[in-house]
Amino acid sequence: MKSTKLNIKNGIFKKTIIPKVCLHQRKGDKHWGSERSFGSRRLQAERPAGKNPRSVEAAWACHVICALPDGKANAADSSFPRFGLGGSSCLQKMMASQLVKPDTRNCKRPRELEPQMPDSPQLSSLGKSDSSLSESSGLFYKDEALEKDLNVLKKYMEKTHQKTVIFGQEKTLPCIAPLLTTVEETPQVISAGVQGHFPEWLSGYLLRVGPGKFEFGKDKYNHWFDGMALLHQFKVEKGTVTYRSKFLQSDTYKANSDRDRIVISEFGTLALPDPCKNVFERFMSKFEKPAITDNTNVNYVLYKGDYYLSTETNFMNKVDIETLEKTEKVNWTKFIAVNGATAHPHYDPDGTTYNMGNSYGKHGSCYNVIRVPPEKSDPGETIHGAQVICSIASEEGMRPSYYHSFGMTRNYIIFIEQPLKINLWRIISSKIRGKAFSDGISWEPQYNTRFHVVDKHTGQLLPGMYFSKPFVTFHQINAFEDQGCVVIDLCCQDDGGILEVYQLQNLRKTGKELDQVYNLIARNSPRRFVLPLLGNLNAPEGENLSPLTYSSASAVKQADGKIWCSYENLYPEDLKEEGSIEFPQINYGQFNGKKYQFFYGCGFRHLVGDSLIKVDVVNKTRRVWREDGFYPSEPVFVPVPGASKEDDGVILSVVITPNQNKKNFLLVLDAKNFEELGRAEVPVQMPYGFHGTFVTI
Ligand SMILES: [Fe+2]
Repeated sequence: MKSTKLNIKNGIFKKTIIPKVCLHQRKGDKHWGSERSFGSRRLQAERPAGKNPRSVEAAWACHVICALPDGKANAADSSFPRFGLGGSSCLQKMMASQLVKPDTRNCKRPRELEPQMPDSPQLSSLGKSDSSLSESSGLFYKDEALEKDLNVLKKYMEKTHQKTVIFGQEKTLPCIAPLLTTVEETPQVISAGVQGHFPEWLSGYLLRVGPGKFEFGKDKYNHWFDGMALLHQFKVEKGTVTYRSKFLQSDTYKANSDRDRIVISEFGTLALPDPCKNVFERFMSKFEKPAITDNTNVNYVLYKGDYYLSTETNFMNKVDIETLEKTEKVNWTKFIAVNGATAHPHYDPDGTTYNMGNSYGKHGSCYNVIRVPPEKSDPGETIHGAQVICSIASEEGMRPSYYHSFGMTRNYIIFIEQPLKINLWRIISSKIRGKAFSDGISWEPQYNTRFHVVDKHTGQLLPGMYFSKPFVTFHQINAFEDQGCVVIDLCCQDDGGILEVYQLQNLRKTGKELDQVYNLIARNSPRRFVLPLLGNLNAPEGENLSPLTYSSASAVKQADGKIWCSYENLYPEDLKEEGSIEFPQINYGQFNGKKYQFFYGCGFRHLVGDSLIKVDVVNKTRRVWREDGFYPSEPVFVPVPGASKEDDGVILSVVITPNQNKKNFLLVLDAKNFEELGRAEVPVQMPYGFHGTFVTI
């Protein structure tokens, strides 16, 4: 791509831009753009040198901007044209380079926040007729192939542009930057002001965790997932509510604090060499083995009755849930041969915990199913007795898939190998290359998604080879067995490009630039897959092996013996109005691994959840709670003691606002009708977090 020289006076292009054209469509979302529309100082100033737009910027969890090789349409997506003009340039590159641009504007509170930004060059150009941008404007060289592509682009723009603007509305998204900035901890318990009521039977701790500190000294984290773990505790007792929060005193937090800079790399941030070292020492430090973070900011997990904070590295931190103090640091590698484990284990009714973790060795990488016994044989134990009960070889040894969770029924573990790849060479060389770990993750939809089923009692991997078109899932809703099949419900996206979008600079944007960021993300929806087990596999080729009359999901046997799985949409059509749905939760204690009817989640009409949704997966209906300007966290279901009905309980969610004139609160809804029972307000600023749990006392 040639460089561009351009004079702009009063917003009007005065000189012809030298040829530099790149048109691209973002798979699935139908985002169209043209580099011409960037063609100003802006482009040259904002594109970071060497930025690889195909890399996924993820956290230990993971998500990206995808870019198929130019001109290579995925089979499932072959109806969409692709443009590869100008070598490897593409809109995704443009978007990526735009997205990582540091945003130095001050972000105002939402009530004051009306669009202050000039129209985005991309968006403002998209809806225009071609005549405003063609050769008459002097923006392009005459080129037949280019003309042809432009005409196709124009047609697609006409069809798709309205879809790229949020819900066809002109309104821009409110700024949420205050929800993604550093806050103070509240270590002393404070009382919350209750409005309405909290049920008398509801007694316990709502524990949540998420990032709460995003810089040390002059060093700043790049990605939302990088922030230091802040622990929140709402104590509910006899209708009253108190709140406290503390930063996890991880070794990472302490080392960063002591040196007032970022010492240990996180998912999207590479720790730079100590500036006090001389040039040679700084150079040589690039070859040192990188320290692994113990900033466990993703979820509370339970092993043998103790609560730990987990991320996806080999470290967990055991915590006292009353004081929120860390009591012990645990290293998985001291117990079993894994390099880490997910922050979403599953639990059997007897307390046995199952998890999954990768291992990387000279013979390649494996996905391992882990079992931790339910009880301690000694009070000082942590995860002693943990076992790897099954190892599944990665399809590609040096490029295993990233996964954030897995499914479990009464008898089976379901592992999903998705085309969100971890390039181990890139991870290993990240420090030398000066890149964050996230640079080693990429969405590669040229591969299909595969399901693996493991007998959790014997550790045997079942022979069925289940495939579907490429999708990415981060959170699984539930799974159960029925009529010889495993049924698994997931929150799915057709595009694995979300991780890079969650750079802090993007989340803190305002106005139409924020809309643009939101529009880059593929929508997330709940889907059901049916996996017929061994007994069904002798059917003839081409037959749907699913006997389940209540589900439209199919599992068709192919000539090569593989089973091609097509999903059933689990949502009512109008669920699309809520944007995406994520952070799924169920009545876990009574219905995990069993046939069920309801799940709860956050609606995402913004980059963070802006509603709470109850979905009836049997009748395909929904209920929604929403309050403008407020952003609820993952809903946690707490059953009424002794209840037998699935939705006989309450939903707890921490609802926060960037509006400094309003208070954050703990919300309690009746899970049956989704009506508010009460809220407990606290005059404390809180950032948007990840996950949590309720512990009855
Ligand atoms: Fe998660």
